[in-house]
Amino acid sequence: MSPPVPETDSPIDPNEVRPPSPDMPVRRLGLDDLPDCMLLAQDRDWSREEHKWRLLFDVGEVYGIDDPAGGLAGTVVSTRYGTGVAGIGMMLVARRHERQGLGRRLMTHALERSGTASVWLTATEYGRPLYERLGFRAIGHSSAYTGPFRARPSDPARPVSRPMTAADLPAVLALDAEACGVPRTELVTRLPAFCTSMRVVDGPSGITAYGGAWRNESVTVLGPLIAGEGETAAALLSDLAAEAEGPLRVDVEHRWPALIDWAVDHGLTRAFTTTVMIQGADLPGDRDRLFLPVTVALG
Ligand SMILES: CC(C)(COP(=O)(O)OP(=O)(O)OC[C@H]1O[C@@H](n2cnc3c(N)ncnc32)[C@H](O)[C@@H]1OP(=O)(O)O)[C@@H](O)C(=O)NCCC(=O)NCCS
Repeated sequence: MSPPVPETDSPIDPNEVRPPSPDMPVRRLGLDDLPDCMLLAQDRDWSREEHKWRLLFDVGEVYGIDDPAGGLAGTVVSTRYGTGVAGIGMMLVARRHERQGLGRRLMTHALERSGTASVWLTATEYGRPLYERLGFRAIGHSSAYTGPFRARPSDPARPVSRPMTAADLPAVLALDAEACGVPRTELVTRLPAFCTSMRVVDGPSGITAYGGAWRNESVTVLGPLIAGEGETAAALLSDLAAEAEGPLRVDVEHRWPALIDWAVDHGLTRAFTTTVMIQGADLPGDRDRLFLPVTVALG
């Protein structure tokens, strides 16, 4: 009788999912990996968001784990603002590799390299339990409001703001650093090229508020927005929205009910809610002036 054919001789099934082994390294990604980042986002039903990814590659550190079958199995982006705060975003693990510890490995890697006093992120329901296990605590909630903008008769008849110019950059950098408590020089310096519009509000002794709007595929995202108080913040939002193209998106923390009212009154509806979480020290700066992030991936 002939011996049984060893199993190793059976042909390899091309559809077999081979998980990245635990020693497959987390590596720093570069712009060459951008197409795979966008494919991974699509795998989790997120948009491709090329413009945003390019900014993240510019100002942040993008990490990933390769999929043995090709492409990426997971990504995370850490953006450091000095030694004070890091923002973490774009935590993504391909569906076929989820719940095997890749998310934890990616986040642990990013945290080990951040070295900042605090780390900030907004967590989806998928990510929150994992982040809690890694020592993050919830400090609030943020909701994305989206939809076509409808101007209101009650909107200010004239803009409260004017377009930002290159000469305004030092004052905008100073205002941003005061509100955030950390220098975000690299990020803020890139905003005029990244945004479709940036506007500032002048006070008696200089600029008191600034805001931006940028295109994310077919949507215009409103943010960042730093202002002295809620009324100016809402008026500046109206100015930015009035010149925006297509539907809007605005990510509002629930500690700003006036901005949620602004969004609803102008025709936007709540799309989803995330939990704002931090790890480490309380956030520095004057957060009462920080109304909107650039994107929830950056803070
Ligand atoms: C959130 C996300 C990145 C997590 O990635 P992941 O690789 O599944 O994460 P992990 O495997 O490290 O941990 C997830 C869970 O699986 C569990 N787990 C890890 N290894 C496991 C294993 N071998 N068997 C069973 N469970 C396992 C973990 O304990 C954890 O459980 P918990 O959620 O109860 O804490 C992923 O679900 C994802 O991409 N979601 C869609 C996009 C998203 O929401 N991103 C987060 C943005 S904040």
